Amino acid sequence: MSDGAVDIRHEARAKAFSTPLEQLDPAQPELFTQDAMWPVFERLRQESPVHFTPESAYGPYWSVTRFNDILAVDTDHETFSSADGITLVSLEAKAEAANRPARPSFISMDPPKHDEQRKTVSPVVAPANLHRMAPVIRERAAKILDNLPIGEEFDWVDLVSKELTAMTLATLFDFPQEERRRLTHWSDIFTNAPGHGPVESWEQKRREINECFGVFTDLWNQRVNAEPAFDLISMLAHGEATRNLDIHEYHGNVVLLIIGGNDTTRNTISGSVYALNRNPAEYRKLRENPGLVSSMVSETIRWQTPLAHMARTATRDVELGGKTIRKGDRVAMWYVSGNRDERAISDPDSYIIDRERPRHHLSFGFGVHRCVGNRLAELQLTIIWEEILKRFPTINVVGEPLRTHSVFVKGYETLPVVIPERVG
Ligand code: HEM
Repeated sequence: MSDGAVDIRHEARAKAFSTPLEQLDPAQPELFTQDAMWPVFERLRQESPVHFTPESAYGPYWSVTRFNDILAVDTDHETFSSADGITLVSLEAKAEAANRPARPSFISMDPPKHDEQRKTVSPVVAPANLHRMAPVIRERAAKILDNLPIGEEFDWVDLVSKELTAMTLATLFDFPQEERRRLTHWSDIFTNAPGHGPVESWEQKRREINECFGVFTDLWNQRVNAEPAFDLISMLAHGEATRNLDIHEYHGNVVLLIIGGNDTTRNTISGSVYALNRNPAEYRKLRENPGLVSSMVSETIRWQTPLAHMARTATRDVELGGKTIRKGDRVAMWYVSGNRDERAISDPDSYIIDRERPRHHLSFGFGVHRCVGNRLAELQLTIIWEEILKRFPTINVVGEPLRTHSVFVKGYETLPVVIPERVG
């Protein structure tokens, strides 16, 4: 699994350290598809931890790359607002968005409106409901794993990561299980630019998004006229803070929940198989001590960092790391970099499944927007690994993954594996 990848990494390092500092621009999807962004962040953390890129495909923006600076931005929603959107948006996508109505969701709102809407949907991922969902997730995980081919190459992303997370998401929405892969497909439609994933053109993307919204509008209309139930759509349709939602806001929240509840966990499930293969001693440790599953899950969430950044807009001039960020400037908190900051995490580039304080990472964010689904994500990962360890002595990665073309979703399109045998 090394071959050409080593050359690419050497080249990326040489380039990152020879480019004039003021030209460093980590927001390049190609860096992420080649796994070549690490040295750019390493240099920024060392030499310019709060860094301004004046020109990029995403317009001008600041990069915050150290753990504690990210924490400072994430926990200060009054200075760093989410209301203008929470990701870097390419200039091309911005031009496209100008032709359609805005679709704000509660992740791109500030308190108090944010808090009211978040409160409406959070019971679905609260401990009592997770307790109810756990046996269902376990049964599904077992079935998925029991149906995998043995001794034959297959794509782990497709047969396992997407399947389990699509089933869970369908349950959260009370969406027909037999149509669950539409949710995965729509998630990929939302997150990809033309030429990547299933997106061929802006026109097709628009068409498929409208189809998705049509389906979810029908579901709202059904649920609003039925008794309140314990699923996300019914909660939004009956919730005091959300029952009068403007249709575009409802659609915005649908996008948030489809992407939030899907891509991130999917990519961590794939990331766990990949990370354990790249670190065979850690995989051995896990096989010998399945009690390490839960810390391995947290370590993988840190190591993978399924969302590479979140963005904010400064509401006033503010000093950070010796630089002055001006009111209105866009600021990217690069979680992917903060999670490798040696000032906050010891030996951060190593994957260590029994490290001390494995939940000490930035992957779920902090502050008022801290991931509402974090325990559900951990639950799915824990269950799938408990079931894997009962069944398979090993899962072998047999080729490099195809990585997602994005500066936001840090994940895998495909991951080829072979399972040589079953336990016993
Ligand atoms: C490993 C899996 C996951 C990761 C890494 C992740 C990461 C994140 C991050 C970084 C944020 C924003 C935090 C901030 O701005 O400070 C977030 C917010 C959110 N996540 Fe997750 N997430 C995961 C799984 C899930 C799941 C399974 C759900 C399903 C319900 C979910 C739903 C949400 C929602 C609704 C928000 C918005 C919260 C708010 O604005 O108050 N996430 N997530």
